[in-house]
Amino acid sequence: MHRGRRLRGSEQMRSMVAETIVSPADLIQPYFIVEGNNRREPIESMPGVERLSLDLLLDELRDLQSHGVDKVILFGVPLHKDKKATSAWTKDNVVETAVLKIKQMYPNLLVIVDVCLCAYTDHGHCGHLLETGEVDNDGTLETLAKVSLSYARAGADVIAPSDMMDGRIGAIRQTLDAHGFHHTPILSYAAKYASAFYGPFRDAAKSSPQKGNRRTYQMDPANAKEAYREISSDLKEGADMVMVKPALAYLDIIKMAKDKFAVPVFAYNVSGEYSMVKAMAKLGWGDEKALALEMLTSIKRAGASRIITYFARSFHDLSK
Ligand code: PBG
Repeated sequence: MHRGRRLRGSEQMRSMVAETIVSPADLIQPYFIVEGNNRREPIESMPGVERLSLDLLLDELRDLQSHGVDKVILFGVPLHKDKKATSAWTKDNVVETAVLKIKQMYPNLLVIVDVCLCAYTDHGHCGHLLETGEVDNDGTLETLAKVSLSYARAGADVIAPSDMMDGRIGAIRQTLDAHGFHHTPILSYAAKYASAFYGPFRDAAKSSPQKGNRRTYQMDPANAKEAYREISSDLKEGADMVMVKPALAYLDIIKMAKDKFAVPVFAYNVSGEYSMVKAMAKLGWGDEKALALEMLTSIKRAGASRIITYFARSFHDLSK
């Protein structure tokens, strides 16, 4: 027997000594909610993911929980879009309505809500625009705070702003506190990169910018120290948890965040990472289950506390 050999004989032995095991409790499933009833809209670039109306989502959530996944993140896809992102904050907006109903039916399901304007503005940017066509950072903060308050009032467990405007965490925290929601935590998409891996999501949320791109407010993939700075400043403003996004091409950032900050670090295994695996599987170029499981394991190994992933709902199948 060699000393220092690897313990890799049997499946059972490998599993006993595995350093990283992904379980359903690690995962958060995203959902895209559309208005109306009995609507199920497949998303071509994300096989297996559908936009759902609330009635169908409620059925789906029962299934999800039966597989041990008890956390979701919600995105609204409204019919009406305009300059002011009105459908994001008016009473009975699609996400507020969904949160109310979901928490009523499934009080034990943890509901995170994404806060952003991109699916609600007619131009598809994450904030309001100035006359010049540039994003109006400061003018957007009030709207983001208003949207967050509407979700908190409906009973959302966690507010997750993904817009990347400067100062948004402070603005949201202040508004929530002023209305008595001191205990509603903020999960900040703190290190959010301007990534080509978001392509399929923009189909799903119908949120592609009509003009320009998001590089003026999202981070440059070339930068790691900037992620440190963004996370530090979001924590100072009052974020309780932070997110690194995307995940797979940013494992070093996840690791850095985990090592340097004493808060939960979430990772967003984004649409392009999901669709890449689906495409390989469809072309017969790889084994979907093995690819997905390896990807999720690497994200957890890098240090992610929890993972937002479109694979959450089929995870019970992957890990068989
Ligand atoms: C912005 C937002 C995006 C994602 C989540 N929130 C996309 C973007 O910035 O264009 C991407 C998620 C994914 O790709 O799965 N509201």
